[in-house]
Amino acid sequence: MTGRFENKVALIAGGAHAVEGELMGFGGVAAWEIVRGGGKLVIADIDDVSGEQSVEQMRSAGFEALYIHADVTSEADWVAAVELATSTHGHLDIMVMVAGAPDRRETIESASVDDWKRVMDVTNLGMFLGVRTVAPAMRDAGGGSIVLISSMMAKIAGSYANAYAASRAGMTQFARSAAVQLGPDNIRVNTVLPGWTVTPFTAPIFDDETIEQLSERVPLGRLATSREIAAGILFLASDESSYVTGSELLMDGGVTSWLGPQ
Ligand SMILES: NC(=O)c1ccc[n+]([C@@H]2O[C@H](COP(=O)([O-])OP(=O)(O)OC[C@H]3O[C@@H](n4cnc5c(N)ncnc54)[C@H](O)[C@@H]3O)[C@@H](O)[C@H]2O)c1
Repeated sequence: MTGRFENKVALIAGGAHAVEGELMGFGGVAAWEIVRGGGKLVIADIDDVSGEQSVEQMRSAGFEALYIHADVTSEADWVAAVELATSTHGHLDIMVMVAGAPDRRETIESASVDDWKRVMDVTNLGMFLGVRTVAPAMRDAGGGSIVLISSMMAKIAGSYANAYAASRAGMTQFARSAAVQLGPDNIRVNTVLPGWTVTPFTAPIFDDETIEQLSERVPLGRLATSREIAAGILFLASDESSYVTGSELLMDGGVTSWLGPQ
């Protein structure tokens, strides 16, 4: 049987948390599914310890996976990551950008300009540099799929996290521009908008009490798992979504549909 990602080369920016036996992130779960599906993988991240360990485990399991240190805010790092994928495997077909920066519990008035720039740079400068760097390689390959991980915060506001919410809404709109401009090259661009999930990104703030409180705000009554969110990423990354571009896949357990208890 042919695997779902046979002959595909994927770059996951922010996929380092793929260490088996540890809590995995969205990109980490997606990374394993891509190699298990026959794909070849490059993980680009700034967490070198986890990234190296993840690809070592994948290689020990017989899969093709490489790690490169790359900060998504650096154009040179994106170029090096794409170069690694294309020089090793000859083409690049899939790019998933998971990298993101958490916001602080500050209001619009109390947040610093540095806080604002830090969040905006990782998410919005990162996606801009990523898309413009992978596009020529995907064009050479005859097409490709780009999946940007946004958040349900693109659709709903909180008491804090202003830069985070603005950057996530910016991402969904940017994906539409990219989908329009790259559609003629058969390059699809979509976003996934996850809801609350316990991952390495949120584990420091999601204690048991917080998880219980948040669950009450979710129509489905619980938080998501990384596996559930990865399922959406993999659908958009694969050829199963060959007619889907410029779209947002909202995976929030119903949070943004609900006004809350009345
Ligand atoms: N977990 C949630 O509840 C949730 C909900 C909605 C959206 N998100 C979004 O998902 C993404 C986080 O994914 P996750 O929750 O699976 O956690 P994760 O920790 O597995 O993924 C984030 C990865 O990004 C990497 N990273 C951070 N800054 C980077 C940079 N400048 N350059 C390259 N890599 C960088 C981290 O090292 C990490 O490996 C973020 O973009 C976050 O906003 C998470």
